[in-house]
Amino acid sequence: MKTLVTYMTQTGNTKKIAEAIYDELEGEKEIKPIAEVSDLEGYDLAFIGFPVMQFDIPPKVKTFLSEKTAGKNIAIFMTHAVPEGFEAIHSWTGSAEQAAAGANVLGKFDCQGELAQPVIDMLLQADDPEMKKFGEMGPATKGQPDESRVQKAKEFAKEVQSKL
Ligand SMILES: Cc1cc2nc3c(=O)[nH]c(=O)nc-3n(C[C@H](O)[C@H](O)[C@H](O)COP(=O)(O)O)c2cc1C
Repeated sequence: MKTLVTYMTQTGNTKKIAEAIYDELEGEKEIKPIAEVSDLEGYDLAFIGFPVMQFDIPPKVKTFLSEKTAGKNIAIFMTHAVPEGFEAIHSWTGSAEQAAAGANVLGKFDCQGELAQPVIDMLLQADDPEMKKFGEMGPATKGQPDESRVQKAKEFAKEVQSKL
């Protein structure tokens, strides 16, 4: 079985989760940024990860999901600044699943990721009050994803792979 872990990251949080997933996988495996993946040919399973940005999944990831995943076994993982359980998370995972409508989605994982200081500064200056609110909760995200979240990502990886 050949598994790919591919991800988008700006400040490293999603990459950290991607590496945790990768470490846990059995069999042949590869890890690379989504920008380096032209298609999913030759992989039995692909973990696809991204940060939530502006209340949605990044447009490039959305395009990848809708154009490259039809008929493929995939698992989705994402990091976000809001705490786990925050209501809007359902709409973000829903958005990813909708984009990947032709895929066989074997699992979904999300966890909190630290808002980097330049991002906090940028959000605090935004005109959109919702973005400002995110900036204000920046300090509460420090250190995420922490070891317990990394551990959960590893369990997720095992659980998804056991489905095949
Ligand atoms: C421009 C921008 C917009 C963001 N919008 C959201 C958002 O709408 N909701 C949220 O929970 N987090 C938001 N975040 C926070 C990131 O999703 C979070 O910090 C994530 O862990 C970053 O992952 P990365 O380090 O892999 O880039 C935003 C970050 C940036 C830079």
